[in-house]
Amino acid sequence: MLKLEKVSKSFGDVKAVEDITFEVENGEFVFITGASGAGKTTVIKLILREYLPDTGQIIIDGEDITKAKDKEIPKIRQQIGVVFQDFKVLSERTLRENIEVALAVAKVPQNEWKERVNHVLKLVGLMERGNFFPSQLAGGELQRTALARALVINPKVILADEPTGNLDWETADSIMDLFDKINKEGKTIIMATHHKGIIDKMKKRVIEIEKGKIVKDSGKKESHKEKPKEEVAEEK
Ligand SMILES: Nc1ncnc2c1ncn2[C@@H]1O[C@H](COP(=O)(O)OP(=O)(O)O)[C@@H](O)[C@H]1O
Ligand SMILES: [Mg+2]
Repeated sequence: MLKLEKVSKSFGDVKAVEDITFEVENGEFVFITGASGAGKTTVIKLILREYLPDTGQIIIDGEDITKAKDKEIPKIRQQIGVVFQDFKVLSERTLRENIEVALAVAKVPQNEWKERVNHVLKLVGLMERGNFFPSQLAGGELQRTALARALVINPKVILADEPTGNLDWETADSIMDLFDKINKEGKTIIMATHHKGIIDKMKKRVIEIEKGKIVKDSGKKESHKEKPKEEVAEEK
């Protein structure tokens, strides 16, 4: 459903992302990890079409989004739900209203709002808090709200950039359980995090980036991995 093909992106002299190739199947849960400055956020922003790559292709469901015109960008974004480290909730609006903003942006007819907001609030366990304001909630609840807002437009994929970065371990753990549940219900998830404890616990595919390059991909198709071994054996 998503494919990056030899994607590179520089900022001045800094090669933030260099020759990155990977493919994510429908329903997969993929971590993108690496040290601070490795290029994780750049990968996320490239998929969001916030950045245009210098070279390479980014294909979502058969469409190369690097070729999309500016006026097509909103349509691309509507296929993608995003969750950030700092939640990005509007403080002067209730949780319900925060989620409704996403529906308004996606031009979903207003008569569908109530049912759809109820559905995602229930999914993230915040049904009782819909009329609360962000200041009345804890960090974990704000991240649940952000996830509900990402899900309400029914995107093909959820991108999360360090979603547990502002949470304590226990809260982070319960947020990860929630991401896991949403993935098991079929949603594709791509999560950038440097949080090793979480990655080890979740046992999902891990793509590791170092200085903009992929140094490890635990989920890469294995078919061609066996072959060279045989060839080596035969040569001996
Ligand atoms: N908008 C930008 N302008 C200039 N340099 C950037 C920009 N975004 C990222 N970089 C640089 O690209 C590299 C990768 O950054 P980033 O993708 O944010 O890494 P990570 O998310 O893994 O910490 C870093 O060296 C960073 O300073
Ligand atoms: Mg980052």
